[in-house]
Amino acid sequence: MSHAPSDTRPRVTLPQLQQWKQEGHPLAMLTAYDAPTALIADAAGVDILLVGDSVGNVCLGFETTLPVTMAMMNHHVEAVARTRPAALLVADMPYLSFHLGVEVTLRNAGGFLQRGAQAVKLEGGAKRLPMVRALVDAEIPVMGHLGLTPQSVNAMGGFKVQGRAEADALAILEDAQALQEAGCFSVVLEGIPADLAARVTETLRIPTIGIGAGLQCSGQVLVFHDLLGLLPQRPAKFVRKYMEGFDLMRDAAARWAQDVRSGAFPGPAESYKLPEEIRPAVASWQPGLRR
Ligand code: KIV
Repeated sequence: MSHAPSDTRPRVTLPQLQQWKQEGHPLAMLTAYDAPTALIADAAGVDILLVGDSVGNVCLGFETTLPVTMAMMNHHVEAVARTRPAALLVADMPYLSFHLGVEVTLRNAGGFLQRGAQAVKLEGGAKRLPMVRALVDAEIPVMGHLGLTPQSVNAMGGFKVQGRAEADALAILEDAQALQEAGCFSVVLEGIPADLAARVTETLRIPTIGIGAGLQCSGQVLVFHDLLGLLPQRPAKFVRKYMEGFDLMRDAAARWAQDVRSGAFPGPAESYKLPEEIRPAVASWQPGLRR
């Protein structure tokens, strides 16, 4: 079945994702943080838009995702939701939005749904099961996130590939199983060996979405700005740039600045004209002289 870009493509639903997983149809998920990125990714026909807390690194200048708040996330979720994408819209639960108890978690996640998200994502395994169960009970679809979970940067001692030691690999397999049984509709696998991700994927009924987790996941996710090459720093090993966006956009801005300085911008095509009949009055007007 094709889910190519179309103005009229039907909205992606959870049953549709599950069906694509069963048919072996790989799922494509991209981050979007604002209206332009959402419109572009949706027009490209991606299946899932994630308003990721990576907005903190990518758009807000933070070194980690830890300072990202619900207020910041709500602002970006609303911007993406206003574009009414056909892709499934998933909102990422930021640090501390799901750690303080079930009630706060429900309020935060429910707020995302009231702003137009269709599902939420949260990081972590066994420790998060009470929250996941409560969300699912409250009709809030949940995407899990295992492996290199960026909100655990301090506990992990840096952004390091996870699941290389036997105990860690088995814990990821068990956490994935537990998230599925708690009702998650999908799990992101980030920064783990490809063969471990393949094993997680074959042991689950629900789709896995990989980032730095090899080809054998049910789908893939990338940060859109990484794919576009918009960020000046060296990307992670798992990123493939599909354009050099930073260079292209810098060159466009430099050409515009050059045109401003040389008087080539704006030209007649970018300017407005007075109607012929009022030109004489405007030309003869003098300060202090009233008609
Ligand atoms: O915040 C984010 O962008 C993410 C993806 C990398 C999965 O969590």
